[in-house]
Amino acid sequence: MAEPQDLPPLIGESPLFLDLMERVSRAAPLDRPVLLIGERGTGKELIGARLHFLSRRWEGPFVRVNCAALAESLLESELFGHEAGAFTGAVRRRLGRFELADAGTLLLDEIANASPQTQEKMLRAIEYGAFERVGGNETRHVDARVIGVTNVDLPAEAEAGRFRHDLLDRLAFDVLTVPPLRARPGDIPLLATHFGAAFTGELGRGAFPGFTGRARDALLDHDWPGNVRELRNVVERAVYRHPPDESLIDAISFDPFASPFRPPTAIPKPPKEPTPSPPLDAMAPVDLGAAMAETEKRLIEQALRANRHNQKAAARHLGLTYHQLRGRMRKHAVT
Ligand SMILES: Nc1ncnc2c1ncn2[C@@H]1O[C@H](COP(=O)(O)OP(=O)(O)OP(=O)(O)O)[C@@H](O)[C@H]1O
Ligand SMILES: [Mg+2]
Repeated sequence: MAEPQDLPPLIGESPLFLDLMERVSRAAPLDRPVLLIGERGTGKELIGARLHFLSRRWEGPFVRVNCAALAESLLESELFGHEAGAFTGAVRRRLGRFELADAGTLLLDEIANASPQTQEKMLRAIEYGAFERVGGNETRHVDARVIGVTNVDLPAEAEAGRFRHDLLDRLAFDVLTVPPLRARPGDIPLLATHFGAAFTGELGRGAFPGFTGRARDALLDHDWPGNVRELRNVVERAVYRHPPDESLIDAISFDPFASPFRPPTAIPKPPKEPTPSPPLDAMAPVDLGAAMAETEKRLIEQALRANRHNQKAAARHLGLTYHQLRGRMRKHAVT
């Protein structure tokens, strides 16, 4: 099907990607919520847009809200609108995103970040199409299809009491999980050529020269924690650093910060070998709590370094959820 204008094309031919596209096409026409889950940069937003444009609502509005970008009270009025005088600064009545998405689709990005109170209002708006504007008493009705988007493990969040089970159940009519790029290596050369050619055109150069075998292998060997967004940056950087001649592109730089002059990290390096513990009876009194906290902090720092500061990967490494890791990083002031 033709792409709606100004929507970038979704590229991919690997079996995992084609399977997902097939599921997207099947879910699109149903007037039910959909949950889109996937690591950062995997294309969730683009896929959300495709769900809308393949649905019967395609001529209606496609509205997106990032639930992580706003403080709790602001998010509530962003979603549900407010009446004049609802709070200081609310001079005029304002429609919320649910109302703006009437007869269309509302994409709730980073939905795990919404507060329990907002989640409760979301559930009612999704389930019964009913809500009140902030500062208003009148129940309003809306017909917006909701797509929830997240890169965290929502069932685990619900188990931990941070996400409402009933909202999860409602959203999970169909759950589409976007595979990370490293699980579909066949798409890497395809996407690399696509982004390379597009950026060569944007720079006003001639034809895209393509990559050497060595560069291709490097792209295939990388594990892409930032997925398609990272691939796009790496490819565009390689194109722009390449002399505008017809030679194949060979130099690929994955880390734009790489430099011998990079300032040293402020985090002290842990000792290489753990110091062996002295026998118990020879020990001075020990503050076990402090020692455990120190060990926890050291392991978190090590996991972050080992995973190039990809917090999701570090969390997996430590057997924690992303939010648990974030909580402990805050506790130990690890940045
Ligand atoms: N299959 C694809 N084909 C072409 N471009 C893609 C594809 N997947 C992702 N992209 C591009 O990669 C970038 C990231 O995609 P997008 O913003 O949809 O990811 P996301 O999963 O929403 O990321 P985040 O979790 O960080 O919000 C965008 O520039 C998007 O156009
Ligand atoms: Mg996104």
